[in-house]
Amino acid sequence: MDSSAVDPFAHFESWMAEATKSEPNDPNAVCLATCTPEGIPSARMVLLKGLDPRGFVFYTNLESRKGGELAANPQAALCFHWKSLHRSVRVEGAVEAVSDAEADAYYASRARGSRIGAWASKQSRPLESRFALEKAVAEYTMKFGLTEIPRPAFWSGFRVVPRRIEFWRDMPFRLHDRQVFHRDGAGWRVEALYP
Ligand SMILES: Cc1cc2nc3c(=O)[nH]c(=O)nc-3n(C[C@H](O)[C@H](O)[C@H](O)COP(=O)(O)O)c2cc1C
Repeated sequence: MDSSAVDPFAHFESWMAEATKSEPNDPNAVCLATCTPEGIPSARMVLLKGLDPRGFVFYTNLESRKGGELAANPQAALCFHWKSLHRSVRVEGAVEAVSDAEADAYYASRARGSRIGAWASKQSRPLESRFALEKAVAEYTMKFGLTEIPRPAFWSGFRVVPRRIEFWRDMPFRLHDRQVFHRDGAGWRVEALYP
């Protein structure tokens, strides 16, 4: 790989395009790791919903466990794994909130049921019964009727602004190919790692 010529975002997009063809579902699924200020990590899956040279965007409930951890410690890591391609991408960086306009636009693009679900779910907090969730969905369905559904103030997106992006490819005998892009001023420095 010619280090100076390669843009890691373009490289990521070409891998994502291949994964979109070969994965059975959710090629944009990615494991998101966050960490408390005390250094206790947690990880869960999210869906990548935006990508541009600023970074990798996902959406969630700001009052969830991940939302709380990111508010207290705005650093994250992402790990994509495309089994069908035998490839993985790791991203690390600081996290920033997306703009209200960006979150509004994405929220408006979601299915009506998903928009209602965002209102009804107190994500990551104890659920007394499935009925309580179904009741909340019914109540918000009635409340909004056929009107526009505004984005809840507690639901928005985060952008992981990468300082490191690693591309991993399976190779025979576990002699895998690892290319790491480190942010370097306005550009990127590339290095290869032992597998
Ligand atoms: C494939 C997949 C995609 C998911 N996408 C999202 C997502 O985009 N946003 C989200 O908040 N939760 C998503 N979830 C649910 C999360 O994994 C998790 O259960 C939830 O966000 C609560 O996490 P937390 O308690 O660590 O905040 C997804 C789960 C799976 C399995």
